Amino acid sequence: MTTMARSETPFVSTLPGRYYYDQAIYDLEQERIFSQMWVCVGRADAIIGPGSYAVVTIGRESIIVVRGRDDVLRAFLNVCRHRGARLCNEASGRLKGSIQCHYHAWTYGLDGRLIGAPNVLSDEQFDRALYGLLPVALEVWEGLVWLNLADKPAPIADQLNETIVERFGDYAAFARYDVGNLKVGKTIVYDVQANWKLILENFMECYHCAPMHPEFCQLLPEFKTGIVSDYVNGEAARLAEHVEAFTITGKASRPPLPGLLPEDLRQYYGIVLQPNALLNLLHDHVVIHWLVPDGPARTRITCDWLFDPAVMAREDFDPMDAVEIFDIVNKQDWEVCQWTQLSMGSRAYKSGGVYVPVEQHIRAFADFVLERVG
Ligand code: FES
Ligand SMILES: [Fe+2]
Repeated sequence: MTTMARSETPFVSTLPGRYYYDQAIYDLEQERIFSQMWVCVGRADAIIGPGSYAVVTIGRESIIVVRGRDDVLRAFLNVCRHRGARLCNEASGRLKGSIQCHYHAWTYGLDGRLIGAPNVLSDEQFDRALYGLLPVALEVWEGLVWLNLADKPAPIADQLNETIVERFGDYAAFARYDVGNLKVGKTIVYDVQANWKLILENFMECYHCAPMHPEFCQLLPEFKTGIVSDYVNGEAARLAEHVEAFTITGKASRPPLPGLLPEDLRQYYGIVLQPNALLNLLHDHVVIHWLVPDGPARTRITCDWLFDPAVMAREDFDPMDAVEIFDIVNKQDWEVCQWTQLSMGSRAYKSGGVYVPVEQHIRAFADFVLERVG
């Protein structure tokens, strides 16, 4: 007697419930996924001007992302090299040209060099070069700041480009949206009581769209069928015939993004950039989510709505018709992820659930997690 191998059935199992609530598994994910890959931590244009900084957390590390006097963004572990005090304790702010520890007043330049240490800096036995802030690899990709805590980070293109090319057929089709030069018109932060993987998995399938997203399906009727496979094979979903734009009214209130071609109009692309960014491309705006896991059962999600800066400069610019519709979709998604989270510890989900054929591709994500975490 044999049990059916995974490849013989289109009904494949999800991860067992404990992968969504167990602190030990969460810690391993933080160490082997989030601390080994490029992780998105927000928009570069949120940190404007020398001394501006944001503090972000990846795994067990607190990291300062700061803009230098030379306008370059750098990242450092938020740890004083003297006796380890946390340097910056606010989520963001502006430093006056240096980073000073409150404990014994060691002072670092915005480039991380140790430039002040009371009574010891001039001691000839003290080698200040050994005590600069520890840098963290940082890249700005399409306007987004990505950090990598690995000892030897792979090039960021190795992590992101394959997904983009797989999704669009070639990079140029994505590049036409010029995401890096769009500007944020609205940001909403959501505190979601669900494991980060449930949020990604939910985004990867549209089996739930008909029951969960009636407003969304009005605009993008293909999603009503639940069998749109566009997340995996390069095809975009198209707006309904009577719909002009992806807005709460279905009416267009801004022109298409300037770099797009006629064939790009009236389409929707949703893309997951593992491990923690979601891109939604529309012809007149872009919506980006980035996730910060905060424990096994909680995720903070920042959602930015991006527009053409020329359109934003207009006096009558109002992002809300675009914001309202995706905010509705967001809340519907987070709610269903929270319902799912509630059951992860149940004996009914001890060995997991099942992905149906139109969700099958999510198993590759589960396998990616298993490969990393074991
Ligand atoms: S711990 Fe920072 S100066 Fe002493
Ligand atoms: Fe959804």
